[in-house]
Amino acid sequence: MTSGARGLLLFGATGDLAQRMLLPSLFALHAEGLIAPDLAITGTARSGLDDAGYRAFAGEALEKHVPEERMARDAIPGFLKRLHYVPLDASNPEGYAALGKKVGAARENLAIFLSTAPQLFEPTIAGLASAGLAGDNVRIGLEKPLGTDLASSRAINDAVAAVFPEARTFRIDHYLGKETVQNLLALRFANLMFEPLWNAAGIEHVQITVSETVGLEGRTAYFDGSGSLRDMVQNHMLQLLALVAMEPPAHFDARAVRDEKVKVLRSLRPIDRETALTHTVIGQYAKGAVGGVPVPGYVEELGRPSDTETFVALKAHVDNWRWKGVPFYLRTGKRMPNRQSEIIIQFRPVPHSMFAERGGRVHANKLVIRLQPEEEIRLLVMAKEPGLDREGIRLREVPLDLSLTTAFAGSRRRIAYERLLLDLIEGDPTLFVRRDEVEAQWEWVDAIRDGWTANGMTPKSYPAGTWGPSAAIALTERDGVSWHD
Ligand code: BG6
Repeated sequence: MTSGARGLLLFGATGDLAQRMLLPSLFALHAEGLIAPDLAITGTARSGLDDAGYRAFAGEALEKHVPEERMARDAIPGFLKRLHYVPLDASNPEGYAALGKKVGAARENLAIFLSTAPQLFEPTIAGLASAGLAGDNVRIGLEKPLGTDLASSRAINDAVAAVFPEARTFRIDHYLGKETVQNLLALRFANLMFEPLWNAAGIEHVQITVSETVGLEGRTAYFDGSGSLRDMVQNHMLQLLALVAMEPPAHFDARAVRDEKVKVLRSLRPIDRETALTHTVIGQYAKGAVGGVPVPGYVEELGRPSDTETFVALKAHVDNWRWKGVPFYLRTGKRMPNRQSEIIIQFRPVPHSMFAERGGRVHANKLVIRLQPEEEIRLLVMAKEPGLDREGIRLREVPLDLSLTTAFAGSRRRIAYERLLLDLIEGDPTLFVRRDEVEAQWEWVDAIRDGWTANGMTPKSYPAGTWGPSAAIALTERDGVSWHD
């Protein structure tokens, strides 16, 4: 771990992510006194602003994106005073000297965050090195997308590695900054009761769903060149899968945790030309209604024909001792009926039910780990319904509710970037993605795309506001499994 940074340099400082997430997160860290009082934040982007202009810009972003109940108004002037700005065309090597000058003495101990198009990563890294902004105590955070396939991701990683060693490269997957995702680690490794059952003998299958109600949201160029597999599965969903499936790390540190995750990613059974048709389903939303509001289809939003998938469902396997034969069903999509991110652990049924003789039906236990919209963990257990049961026993599934919102009432819900920016500033890479992980993820995803091409697979249409093409239902039903809705 390197020591805490004295400066933060933010590329893409006027972008959408900066406005919605990064500035509000930095403001929260400032207001809570979590960052050093003298830490200067220098923003840079193409816009021709000066310090005052950027402070006004940031002030507006806070007004727009920080909910009133979290707006510590007294803290705003102090926060804005930390902000500085240098206009820069990141692809032009000439501008970096001015940037270096502005950063001043903090250059020795700097955290850098690149929230820019990946084509700019290479020139930016070279520019930083030329301006003396890549010393031994400088670490760099990289926002996704880190390439579009294994080859392009390797090229980016090579360019970064030429200047920043792996220990100082912080690849962001904002799902790792979510509180419930970290709670998954606490649930698994701070409790005795789950781990003995957490394997093929105790678990029948796992489901991971990340559904969104939004559509393209103006991200036309990026999303249409990406699609749901690369946008969501390659990163967030595979990270969730790795956290569910990994062996208990010996230490809670960057090396031990990431060593265990990468073992899982490397144990994923390839879905390729042979299995793409049977193990994956892709869809694209057509016009429909979400929450009662009519919405256009993907190609109408885009304004041209496209074969980009806005939905993907797949069946994965982790081929190792612990998970032999346990399917991991993953699905994600845009324009679904609701916004919901959850992991379902479906345990196996009891080996014998004595209640059956008296008409009692026993459902197998289920653990529901919900990231969104609420952060909660629920264990569904069987209980007897109250009553004298003269006509047989009645059993019912009831939730053992581990609602984090209720249990930790008073603690506010944080933006994932608060955690990640703080860790970047403090130099703790545990919740960031290592090169071998990201490359294993791409390798697996590339084989799927290759399988789609080889089989001439194109997305099936689904009306906006539904759970994707009916083939996605068939994907699990064939195994006698239903998606948890
Ligand atoms: C981003 C994807 O990484 O994650 C977006 O690029 C997606 O397409 C977003 O909407 C979802 O994040 P969250 O935190 O809202 O679930």
